[in-house]
Amino acid sequence: MKKDFNINTLIRPNVKALKPYSSARDEFKEFTSDMVFLDANENPFENGVNRYPDPQQHKVKQLLSEKKGLSTDQILLGNGSDEVLDLIFRAFCEPKEDNIITMPPTYGMYEVLAKINTIENRKIPLTNQFQPNLEAIFSSADFKSKIIFICSPNNPTGNSFSNENIEKLLNLFEGLVVIDEAYIDFSEQKSWLTRLNEFPNLIVTQTLSKAYGMAGIRLGICYSSPEIISVLNKIKPPYNVNELTQQKAMERLVNTDAVAKEIESIIFERELLISELKNLPFIFEIYPTDANFVLVKVDDAPKRYNQLIDNGIVIRNRTKEKLCENCLRFTVGTPKENKKLIQILKHIS
Ligand SMILES: Cc1ncc(COP(=O)(O)O)c(C=O)c1O
Repeated sequence: MKKDFNINTLIRPNVKALKPYSSARDEFKEFTSDMVFLDANENPFENGVNRYPDPQQHKVKQLLSEKKGLSTDQILLGNGSDEVLDLIFRAFCEPKEDNIITMPPTYGMYEVLAKINTIENRKIPLTNQFQPNLEAIFSSADFKSKIIFICSPNNPTGNSFSNENIEKLLNLFEGLVVIDEAYIDFSEQKSWLTRLNEFPNLIVTQTLSKAYGMAGIRLGICYSSPEIISVLNKIKPPYNVNELTQQKAMERLVNTDAVAKEIESIIFERELLISELKNLPFIFEIYPTDANFVLVKVDDAPKRYNQLIDNGIVIRNRTKEKLCENCLRFTVGTPKENKKLIQILKHIS
């Protein structure tokens, strides 16, 4: 259990002082079917989406809270995790003053969001085993280091970070620790959600874009303490998760069997893909993965990337990323798509 952590010392002064916008739906919440709503300047003619959506997405949060065993005031939803990550920057990082720590190679949006918010990004590369370099992190951190971003399983490497390393960061880092668990449902590792109540500085982000198969609806999820969630709630746009997204998310969240079957198939296909990749002469290394993609080192990444494009397959060339020279990232597709990929890879080798 982490002690002596006070979130109030991390909140930006302007956010602390802010009186949030109060929407019509925030002010009047006691819905009954015979009420007449003339408060939000909506078009009154019913078409399914003529009303503003629930700004607090109560029904979606209720489902998530039951699923994860957390209370609804520990959940904030956003327009993809990208919005959630941006809200975290804007709530806690003072432009031109504060800094964040990231561990390349990792998800590129942390760097982009730092730039957008004029926040210095102190990049501490992963070790050669793609694990956090704790010594370098702690010697680079100072009292202006507000957030460390941990992506586990990590994009683009695919591996999870050791629990011991993450726990050390949670215990010793003085700012917030964001663990981005976008790929957690493909992993055998336990989510850090189960430790949320031990660490008042922990924020876990997840998304419906990956295992839940709903990248198109844009629903990102942030789990943390009620205190941190209430700060983020204060600055979020009032109706940041639209009505159609809320409806689709609820349909999918109750369809647990269908989601589990797809995850099972993706993991099975991932292992099949890895076993096939092992036989290809131009693939030098296949990195361990806990995600729905595989990172491999090849002889000549641009050449192999272009050969695949010429054959109608688009993958990601990661050769320009730190520690990823000549690396390609393959997302696991359907059985048919993976078969086609393997056929073409055999053909071009
Ligand atoms: C690690 C990681 N986090 C977050 C995201 C974005 O998630 P969302 O679609 O919820 O914005 C991605 C997308 O590729 C990702 O790889």
